[in-house]
This record gives sequence, C-alpha cells and structure tokens, in this order.
Amino acid sequence: MFIYTFVLKADTPLAARAAVRALTASKIRELYNAGLGKPNILPFWVGEPDEPTPDFIRKAGTGSIAAGELFYTHNLGIPELREALAAYISRLHRKVEADQIAVTSAGVNALMVASQLLVDPGDRVVQVVPLWPNLQEIPKILGASVETVPLQFSEDGWKLPLEKLLHELKPKTRALYLNSPNNPTGWTVSEAELKAILERCRKHGIWIFADDAYERLYYGEEGIAPSLLKVSETEDRVISANTFSKSWLMTGWRLGWLVVPPGLTADLGKLIEYNTSCAPVFVQRAGIAAVKEGEPVIARTRYRFRKARDFLVSELRELPKVEVAVPTGTMYAFFRVQGVKDSLKFCKDLVREVGLGLAPGSAFGPEGEGFVRWCFAASEEKLGDGVTRLKRFL
Ligand SMILES: Cc1ncc(COP(=O)(O)O)c(C=O)c1O
Repeated sequence: MFIYTFVLKADTPLAARAAVRALTASKIRELYNAGLGKPNILPFWVGEPDEPTPDFIRKAGTGSIAAGELFYTHNLGIPELREALAAYISRLHRKVEADQIAVTSAGVNALMVASQLLVDPGDRVVQVVPLWPNLQEIPKILGASVETVPLQFSEDGWKLPLEKLLHELKPKTRALYLNSPNNPTGWTVSEAELKAILERCRKHGIWIFADDAYERLYYGEEGIAPSLLKVSETEDRVISANTFSKSWLMTGWRLGWLVVPPGLTADLGKLIEYNTSCAPVFVQRAGIAAVKEGEPVIARTRYRFRKARDFLVSELRELPKVEVAVPTGTMYAFFRVQGVKDSLKFCKDLVREVGLGLAPGSAFGPEGEGFVRWCFAASEEKLGDGVTRLKRFL
C-alpha cells in the first residue's frame, strides 16, 4: 500500500498572494495603536455617528430574534426588505424593481461583491481620489490596475477636474469608482458632471460603481445628493452601493444593498452565496423599520451634522496654518495644515501630546498627504475641546 505524504519544501514561502501582500495596512488603525493606553483621548478619527441606533429600529431587530428568526435566508435578501428598498429608491431617484436589489452585509461588502461581479485581474479601473481606503483596495485585491484622478483643493471647495476624468474614461477601461459625497473631502459631484461622466461611460461601455453611502448626509437645499441613479436608466452600466450605517446610525449592524441592472441579479445572488450566503434576518428586519419609518432620523441627523460642520469649519478657519473648504456632504472636514509633510506623524504627535485623535490624510491615498480628516459627528462641546487642543499643539 502506498501512503502519499505532502511535504512542504523548506523554500516554499508561507505567504499570502502578492496582491494581498501589496495592500496598504490601515493607517487609522496604526494611529489608534499609537494612542492605546493614553487616557482622555478625544477620538474624531473614525467615521461613525455619535448616537446609537434609534429604539424603533433596535426593537424590530430584537423582536425578530425573539420570534426565532435565526436561520439562513435568501441570498439576495428577504422579499419585504427588497420591496421596501425598491420603494425607497423609486421615491428618491427613479423607478427600481425589487429584483434589481441585492441586500448585502454592509456597504463594504456591497462594493466587494459588485467588484467581484465585474472586475477581472488586469482590468483598468479609474477612481476619483482622495478616497476611503477600503474602496481603493477592493479592486487591487481582485488584481485590477487603478488609475486615479485627484480632486483639486481650494478653500472655496474641492473641485472635480472633469476634462481630466473624461480623458481617463477611455476605451478598455472596465469601471469607474465614484464616491459622492466623498469620504474624506466632503466634495459632492454635480448633476451636470454626472451626466457628462455617464455619457462618456456609455460611449465606451464602462461600468460605474457609485458609492452612495453619504447621499442622505448632504447639506445642499435638496437634502439629497445628486445621484447617478437619477440621471441613468435601468439598462445603463450603473451599480449603486449603499449602506444603513450612516443614514440610520447603524454602523454595527452591517447591512447594505446594491442596485443593479436586472440581468445581473442572478449572478450576484451566486456571489453572495459564496461570500456571506445572506445577511442575518433579524438585521434585515431592523433595516425594514429603518427604511419605512426612518425619515425623521435622517432629517434630525442631517440637521445636527450640518450645525456641527458649520461650527467646526468656522473654528478651524480661526487657526493659523489651517486651510479648509466647507464640506458639502458626509461627516468629515478634510483640512490642510501648512508645513505638514507627513500627516501620519503629525496625527501620532497630536494623539501623544494633546490627546486629539484625527485621521491622517495619507490614509486616503498619496493625494491626501498634508491633510487631516476630522469626523464632526459630535457635540459642539467636544468639537470645541478638540479645536482648543489642536490650537495648543499648533
Ligand atoms: C465612502 C464609504 N463607502 C462605504 C462605506 C461603508 O460602510 P459600511 O461598511 O459600514 O456599510 C463607508 C464607511 O465608512 C464609507 O466611508
């Protein structure tokens, strides 16, 4: 009888794939570690609302647990949530059917499965930067090559170099990733820009991944950011990724969704099966309560964050060396500090010396170097305390 043994040769490296080894580790995490053990830190580094999930949403979740909804469920989400989301999106943007919706395990997972659906190794994709690190790394995990188009900063506002972006949207480009309102800059794309981008992408068959996480945290008159869903049609190569995290104060619940053209839904269901299989039912029940009854939550949050934004920006503008544009959406102020060449070091020093936790601009790509991100989802008292610490440090 033969016995086969598999011997690992001594020179075989025990290592992850090259694409994974090349990923950038989270600089915000590195910073957090630098502050560990230090008492009395004021944390504004993470993008999280400052209030817990409202009671009526929690009750929908706990009620479902109590009722024993604790088993696997549909890959694409329970029908009631898909229908509620279709009605919500149809009200806000354009007519969408429930069979165009896939429920996912939060926004980051929505962006990952959507990318798995369409991005091959070696594909060329374009991103508008600075950008939330997770979204920068997702196409790289899949082996795509990423071209970036940097937003331009001035104190009057961040600006999209539209011609430059259109130039990058050329044949053989697989996809554009567009996050608006944008984390970290607070920049929001205009409807006219969206139309121009869509037209170019239609011409060359380029997919657009719209990361709409902050669409409801927009401080313009309309109360909702300009959206690709609004300007596009059902059969366009447009995928919208969204999340319950920010609009309904549900970061820890890990619930999100995708809107896709109908022909992609079945394949998306397969991918969800092999990633997470489904989002937990009781979390989806909480999601239904949020979508159906959550408008007052959104209105109140937008009102509070807008006030916090105005307060923080006016305080920052009093500081010498600080340059900041008014963010039109999100919960972040992304400001430049003159003379800062290494924002990670600057942020580590801030934590150690005055206990102020901000996120280094370099965490959002090299284009963010010299900048610092401040999450203003906090009380005026805390923001004021933070500004005093920054002033002392500067
Ligand atoms: C731009 C952007 N998109 C998507 C998300 C996804 O959030 P989550 O995974 O909590 O749904 C975030 C979270 O910070 C974000 O900043």
